[in-house]
This record gives sequence, C-alpha cells and structure tokens, in this order.
Amino acid sequence: MRPAELIERKRNGEEHDPADLAELILAYARDEVPDYQMAAWCMAVYFTGLSGAETFALTDAMIRSGDVLDLREALRRKVVDKHSTGGVGDKTSIAVGPIVAACGVPLGKMSGRGLGHTGGTLDKLESIPGFRVELTTAELIAQLRDVGIAIVGQSDRLVPADKKLYALRDVTATVDIVPLIASSIMSKKLAAGADAIVLDVKVGDGAFMKTLDEARVLALEMLELGRRAGREVTCLLTDMDQPLGRAVGNALEIREALQTVRGDGPADLTELVLDACARLLAYSDLGIDLKEGRRRAEAAVADGSALGAYERWIRAQGGDPDPRALPEAPVRVTVAAPRDGVVTRLGALAVGIAALELGAGRRTKTDPIDHSVGVLCFAKRGDTVVAGDDLAEVHARDEASAAAAAEAVLAAYTLGDEPPPAHGIVLDVVA
Ligand code: URA
Repeated sequence: MRPAELIERKRNGEEHDPADLAELILAYARDEVPDYQMAAWCMAVYFTGLSGAETFALTDAMIRSGDVLDLREALRRKVVDKHSTGGVGDKTSIAVGPIVAACGVPLGKMSGRGLGHTGGTLDKLESIPGFRVELTTAELIAQLRDVGIAIVGQSDRLVPADKKLYALRDVTATVDIVPLIASSIMSKKLAAGADAIVLDVKVGDGAFMKTLDEARVLALEMLELGRRAGREVTCLLTDMDQPLGRAVGNALEIREALQTVRGDGPADLTELVLDACARLLAYSDLGIDLKEGRRRAEAAVADGSALGAYERWIRAQGGDPDPRALPEAPVRVTVAAPRDGVVTRLGALAVGIAALELGAGRRTKTDPIDHSVGVLCFAKRGDTVVAGDDLAEVHARDEASAAAAAEAVLAAYTLGDEPPPAHGIVLDVVA
C-alpha cells in the first residue's frame, strides 16, 4: 500500500479496495503515514466521497486500531446506548440515563468533551463536585452491574485511529464530510459495545447538519454502518435551530437535567428525553414495545425511581448529587424584551457562542472551562412576551463578560407579530 497512490486514486474518484483502505488507516494509527498525506486523502474524500463499502471498511479499520468492549458478554444483558451529534444546551443523555436505568435497563455510554459552541456531556458532568469521568473497564462494568448506568470518558485505547484522524480533520477543514462523520461516530459507538443505539442527529443553525435533507443522509449512513455491524440503530432528527431546553452552560444544564428527571423539565427537553427512553426500552431485553417503553419511562419519572437512579449514579462516580453543591456564577444579568411580540427566532449558534465567550466552552482542546457560567433562555420560539419581560438570564464571572453576553443573547432573539410555524422537537425518525 503506497499512500500517495491511494490519494491519487481517491482524487480521481476511484473506489478503494477495502483491504488497501484498512491498511492506510491502520498504518496511520501506527504513525507510519504522515499527517500531510492523511490530510490530502481526507480532502480528496471531501471532493469525491466514499462508497458504502469504503465507509464500512474505514469504520471497521478504525475499530480494529484499538480495544473493543463486549458489554453483552460482560453483563450477560443487552446494553443500550444513545448518542447525539452535538448542539447547544443538549443535556439529554444526563436525563435519559437514570430514567432507563430506573426501568431496569443498563445504559453504558462513552462521551466526549465540548469544542467550540457545542457542549460536551463530560464537561457538564464534571461541574458536579467530585464526579469522576475516568473509570477503568472493570469499574465501568461493575458500575453497570450494580447501578445500571455509567457515563465515562472515552479511553485512549478505544478507536485511537479516530482520535488522531478527528484531530487532523479539525485543523484541515475536513470535519464536515458525511462518510467521515458517520464512520467517526459509529466506530466509537460500535467499539464501546452496546447492542442497540439511539442516535440523535441535530439539525439546524447550532448543529453540523443545517438542513433536514443533510441530516437524513448522515442518519442513513450511520444506520447502514450499525446494521452491517449487527447492531440495532434508530436515528432521531431533532431541532437545533434554537437551544434545547432553557439552560446553556455546564452546571446550569446539570440542574435542568435533574429537573427533567424529577418531572419539572422544559417541554422540548422532556419530550426528547421520554422519546429516546421509550426507544431504548423498546430495544432492550425487557421485551416491550414503544408504547409500553414510553409508559414505563413516564412512570419512573413520576414515582421518583428515576431520581433515585440519578442519585445512585452520581454517587457511584464520586459526585455529590445535591444540586446545591453545583457551582454558581457570581454575576447575573437579565435580558429584557425590547418590545411586545412573539419570539419568532432564537439562534442556537449565537447563544452557544455567547456561552463560549462567557467561559462555558473551549476554543481549543486545552482551554480551561468555567462550569458555573452560561445562559438561561426563559423565552423560546413561539412564546409571547411583553416589553420588559425577562427573555433570558446571563450567568457570568464578571460584569464585563456579563454585559457582552447579554448583548449577544438579545441579538439572538427575533421578536415579531405573528407566531412562527409550530413543530415538535423530533422532526423525523429514520429507522
Ligand atoms: N463527532 C464525531 O465524533 N466525529 C465527527 O467526525 C463529527 C462529530
């Protein structure tokens, strides 16, 4: 296998032999192919694409570059997982996990950190004092057995080829390529060992996929990779034109996830959480259908068993589940409605960037983050407001950053006279 030859063939739009492609990826993971050749290959893929067979060969090689977990074998149970492609205010997994666990189904999940305007589940969890995201495989399996839920950081040994390739794509304008995104996400999901996966592809202004059509293409590619690997996969396409729920920022989002587990969460987040739970329960070894899955998820919230599972989970990973233990920002500034009207738009990207500027996110992988800061969006698309009403509240570490964020959040709102077309949080389901 000569990398220069493969780059040339891909540039010319030819299809790779799966064995050659696998060798390229495995050699790259062993540091035998330099970054500049891999970057050229990614750019050739941007222009000429990958076939289904090539995408599968790429995914399979990435999985083979490191360790693979077999949770079914370890637990002798069917294990479910959920994954979101990332957005603004997406704390879904933190509420889904304990609800599913309370219904008796183990949920084992490896999560990532946030970059840019999108938040990461690990960063949110680390705002809980004492919470440990690094568990050994033995600890992960023991916790899944005892508590029914574990959300941990991805080990360095899991899909190391993706770790290297994703970092390279990040700095060579080659992230937004559907087969490379599908293979990057699915290699990690497949290597982490769950039998059934519910994927949440975010669509809109604050997401990778800006349109439903683009999101459908990505969903179909991921579904196909899951099927070829013998896993059950469903893909929800969900709205990311505005932030999910009200809270954006790490500790603020933990509070909101907890409210949702208690049954007091915002409507859009609650709907998405219950929908995802119903699908995960229907995939599980409980032998129930979607309707019964939904009923049990709602019951676990209503009877407090989901809250009990949340508290056991957080304690098991060393954290304090009491929301009063979460850090609080010293400065709060409200954003008032400048006129009467209805919210016709609340830009997810703009709110995500405002939170990033406050210190809730990181621009580069090594930036520190402030877990306490963020934005609460009280008014969402379709809400009617009167001049002077609180649209949002900024939580900041100082007055200057609060004022800048308040201005940016106000600019993210559009107030009009007619309500915008209404739709639910789940825009489509690809299964
Ligand atoms: N998330 C990933 O894990 N990989 C991608 O390529 C894009 C989003």
